[in-house]
Amino acid sequence: MSESFTIAIDGPAAAGKGTISKAVAAHYGFGHLDTGLLYRAVGARMLEGVAPIEAAQNLTPDDLARDDLRGPEVAQAASKVAVVAEVRAALVDFQRAFARRVGGAVLDGRDIGTVICPYAQVKLFVTASAEVRARRRFLELTAAGKVISLEEVLADVKARDDRDMNRAEAPLKPAEDAVLIDTSDLSIEDALAAALAVIEERRSAS
Ligand code: DC
Repeated sequence: MSESFTIAIDGPAAAGKGTISKAVAAHYGFGHLDTGLLYRAVGARMLEGVAPIEAAQNLTPDDLARDDLRGPEVAQAASKVAVVAEVRAALVDFQRAFARRVGGAVLDGRDIGTVICPYAQVKLFVTASAEVRARRRFLELTAAGKVISLEEVLADVKARDDRDMNRAEAPLKPAEDAVLIDTSDLSIEDALAAALAVIEERRSAS
């Protein structure tokens, strides 16, 4: 295996890519970067009145460690700042440096296989129907005490999909050589097994 091994995992919100990415990274002892967190941190700063480009150019470890980045308001704000080319540009170097870390890296997001790491040894595109994803997110949010309806969550998911897929800059789409995993009817274990099967095949070939 070469010194750095990069696994790119892209897909829409709540498709299971975060869960799969964490488990894959733990399985191989690789580093894991949830790139959505970078956009969420910029989105949170925007909600506080900071201009998104300025926020992206001055992001600190403290911004990423905030405990209020997981909510639906910040998610929508993240999706909005993610449309801005200068915001995306400000976050590229950090992501690429992480991807090259010695020992291997898993990055999950929207444009990892297409823009950030087109050379990645493994590219997965993890998806599921909007209804299944909304239900999962709804259960997560209500378990965390948030009062929200399933319809609101579905509308949020669809609005974010629409914005993420139709923006001009680095839109959400599978890389040509990505392997698609549809988790709509898969358990977490089965989805992880499907991901590991693809990765194992690539690792033995590299
Ligand atoms: O993965 P997430 O739900 O935490 O991402 C929040 C938003 O950030 C998502 O709606 C779009 C944006 N994003 C992006 O444009 N590119 C990435 N690589 C990751 C996230």
